[in-house]
Amino acid sequence: MLEDGRYKVLIDPFLTGNGQAAVSADEVKPDFICVTHGHGDHVGDTAAIAKRTGAQVVCSVDLAEGVFAPAGITALAGNLGGTIPMPFGSVKLFQAIHGSGVAGCLSCGFIFRMGGKKIYHAGDTALMTDMNLLADEALDAALLPIGDFFTMGPEDALRAVKMIKPKLTIPMHYNTFPPIVQDPEAFAALVEKAGFRAAALKPGESVEL
Ligand code: NI
Repeated sequence: MLEDGRYKVLIDPFLTGNGQAAVSADEVKPDFICVTHGHGDHVGDTAAIAKRTGAQVVCSVDLAEGVFAPAGITALAGNLGGTIPMPFGSVKLFQAIHGSGVAGCLSCGFIFRMGGKKIYHAGDTALMTDMNLLADEALDAALLPIGDFFTMGPEDALRAVKMIKPKLTIPMHYNTFPPIVQDPEAFAALVEKAGFRAAALKPGESVEL
């Protein structure tokens, strides 16, 4: 969840069935829900939360048509490389190398402009040289998967940090399933040793940029 004091943006709300979740799907009150791709541990509770709160779902056109339209939800849908103006700033759909769970649909990450800050949420992705492009973005924070098995593992995520050069790195996508058990503190220590800042957040914890 990203917050600027006025708007709340929830990303990939996998809460029900997630043993690591610090809140239930009934408790969150986002204004927007951004979804990177169609796998169950990313779409998660999006439809239920959107219907209960009226939150606007934001995703790719193909995900909107393949997953959310059948659920009766009209998503605000863009496509890779595009920036969508938002009341809090904007969200750009950045490429990711990962299956999407929907035929013909590409997975994505997001670059948020919010509260005068720029934040990259990689979604599920492998390491890719396109991350070099993100060095020009002067990112205040980058959320990178470290789980391995389905996405980058810690070693590739460290290589990603060196390409992206964010002011702060926050590891994600670990410990929800046995194949992706990782030590986020050890990863954060590796990032710091390489000369970059990192924060391994526990479920429910937050950090101010
Ligand atoms: Ni996935």
